[in-house]
Amino acid sequence: MKSLAIAVLIALIATHVKALVLSTPSQNCSTFAQDFAQSVSSQNATIINSTLVPANSAAGNNYTFCKVYGQVAYAGNDTLNFQLYLPEIEMWSGRFMAVGNGGMAGTIDTANMIKQLNLGFAVAGGDSGHLASLNNNGGGAPGVYLPYMHSPAQLKTWIHNAISTFTPPARSLVSSYYSRPAGYSYYNGCSTGGAQGFALAQFHPELFDGIYAGSPGNWYSHLALSFLWNARKTLNESYIPQITLDAITSAVLEECDLLDGVKDGLIENPLKCSFDINTMACNASSTNTSLCLTAPQLEAAKSIYTGPTTTTTTTNGSEIYPGFSLGSESSWLQQEGSLADAFSIPILQNIVFNSLSYDFRDFDWDKDIGAVDEKVGAFIDEISPDLESFRNKGGKLLVTQGWADAYNAAIWPIQHLQDIEAFFNGDVSDFFNLFMVPGGGHCGQAEAFPQAPGTYHVVDALIKWVEREEKPESVVSTDEEGGSRLLCPWPQAATWLGGDIDVASSYVCENS
Ligand SMILES: *[C@@H]1O[C@H](CO)[C@@H](O)[C@H](O)[C@H]1NC(C)=O
Ligand SMILES: *[C@@H]1O[C@H](CO)[C@@H](O)[C@H](O)[C@H]1NC(C)=O
Ligand SMILES: *[C@@H]1O[C@H](CO)[C@@H](O)[C@H](O)[C@H]1NC(C)=O
Ligand SMILES: *[C@@H]1O[C@H](CO)[C@@H](O)[C@H](O)[C@H]1NC(C)=O
Ligand SMILES: *[C@@H]1O[C@H](CO)[C@@H](O)[C@H](O)[C@H]1NC(C)=O
Ligand SMILES: *[C@@H]1O[C@H](CO)[C@@H](O)[C@H](O)[C@H]1NC(C)=O
Ligand SMILES: *[C@@H]1O[C@H](CO)[C@@H](O)[C@H](O)[C@H]1NC(C)=O
Ligand SMILES: *[C@@H]1O[C@H](CO)[C@@H](O)[C@H](O)[C@H]1NC(C)=O
Ligand SMILES: *[C@@H]1O[C@H](CO)[C@@H](O)[C@H](O)[C@H]1NC(C)=O
Repeated sequence: MKSLAIAVLIALIATHVKALVLSTPSQNCSTFAQDFAQSVSSQNATIINSTLVPANSAAGNNYTFCKVYGQVAYAGNDTLNFQLYLPEIEMWSGRFMAVGNGGMAGTIDTANMIKQLNLGFAVAGGDSGHLASLNNNGGGAPGVYLPYMHSPAQLKTWIHNAISTFTPPARSLVSSYYSRPAGYSYYNGCSTGGAQGFALAQFHPELFDGIYAGSPGNWYSHLALSFLWNARKTLNESYIPQITLDAITSAVLEECDLLDGVKDGLIENPLKCSFDINTMACNASSTNTSLCLTAPQLEAAKSIYTGPTTTTTTTNGSEIYPGFSLGSESSWLQQEGSLADAFSIPILQNIVFNSLSYDFRDFDWDKDIGAVDEKVGAFIDEISPDLESFRNKGGKLLVTQGWADAYNAAIWPIQHLQDIEAFFNGDVSDFFNLFMVPGGGHCGQAEAFPQAPGTYHVVDALIKWVEREEKPESVVSTDEEGGSRLLCPWPQAATWLGGDIDVASSYVCENS
């Protein structure tokens, strides 16, 4: 009897000790799956494997981290693959970061994950719920079948629900690994990732404290129509070659570069520029036809500035998507066909008309918009101005947009900001700020404007805004040569105070 009592006692102590051990911090990467798989099974997540990656590996990581591969099952039988990078606890800032995708996704943006890891985040990224093999490895093209576009669940997850699918289990794993939850959660994405950022604010407002959305394609369906419009307007003799696009931008710069008092080959606020493209028309005395526009090219350029509209006869030409801004012309080449081939035609053929032989020239700019909105927009757009839940919970949304973005008409985010201000009946800068980048490209530098620094220090700004209530009055951009610039919350623009024009401290943000 006595020995039984002792055995029970020992068993009790053993259980207790085991419980104690389990409740102490466990940052053992090699036992990650064993230790934590159970904790996320109710979130439909599984851990595939985990590996400790030493600091300064080829991946570019400054810190040693535990690299975790996982999966989340969604919509019954679909799978989203994700990775989670966990720095050693001494290097962990206590924050969680999720990163978004580019283009048609299907791959994890590990380069951005490493960047965020190097800033001390525990960082997660996913493939958006379908493999790249289901989007032809990002190679959308006329006549190519893209399986993910035929799965309503995959289509909806791609932008609306990609981040929200892996974030809850990823955050549970962060809590388990460090034995405490992340203090703050951030999101960082550009392009399609910018759209995913808007999807978080609109559909999953509870998940993130701070969202960075760069060059947002959040009106994705109509963005695709703008690619189609620009492609159609530049067919055949309307095509404008790069040399001529550059000539337009040079002429625009000649007229508008100095509007802000700084001769830097950049236009601070293109809306202040009133360049007349008609002055570029070829005439009898034009000696070099690469440097002037023929009549069809002139019409094409005007159409790109205007953006897609319905036809004037039925609706007086109401806007389908905004057009491109003065000074962006040198970034237009991809608008003249390749973006339509990669995105618009695949969307029309795979989703809207469900026929790979659909001829894009049949697209009706009056009658077919409704079908695009219903069959595509409802699945992939996130343009509601009603971000009240996100605002009410204290969420912050920081957006950047390059004025010379090759994909996105730069004034779309400005229009969307105005829609949001109209919804809230006034200023929204307590939770939403848009930073326009003079000469900026799509998610970084534009080829034609290497003098515009391409690294935007948005994460620092977002952290201060979220954690210290310091609203970003400006954001600094830098380049590798030591140059920097001041980016301003729209409708402000940088005003030069004097001094080195390549240093941010020579500027202040002011209403322009
Ligand atoms: C992690 O777990 C493995 C397997 O149980 C063990 O061999 C190793 O010593 C542990 N490492 C640490 C740092 O606790
Ligand atoms: C897990 O998947 C099931 C079946 O699809 C679903 O009903 C449930 O809501 C999912 N759970 C979570 C936390 O997403
Ligand atoms: C972990 O799983 C991923 C995804 O299946 C695989 O690509 C990778 O090679 C695995 N790593 C290890 C160390 O097994
Ligand atoms: C699972 O996949 C099958 C075959 O692709 C499909 O018919 C079915 O509807 C899917 N089930 C769910 C719950 O989505
Ligand atoms: C990471 O290390 C590289 C090389 O030492 C350094 O240039 C870079 O500034 C570091 N990044 C961060 C965010 O500390
Ligand atoms: C116009 O361009 C299209 C597409 O590049 C081509 O198929 C067509 O033959 C051209 N038409 C004329 C009249 O050159
Ligand atoms: C003729 O076109 C050139 C540009 O090619 C322009 O500079 C010039 O002003 C034009 N001349 C007239 C008379 O319109
Ligand atoms: C037209 O101008 C461009 C740019 O200055 C130059 O490269 C090209 O050689 C010129 N073409 C002719 C025919 O003069
Ligand atoms: C077009 O504009 C005219 C004149 O402003 C207006 O009377 C008419 O209602 C408009 N038509 C449509 C379809 O908006």
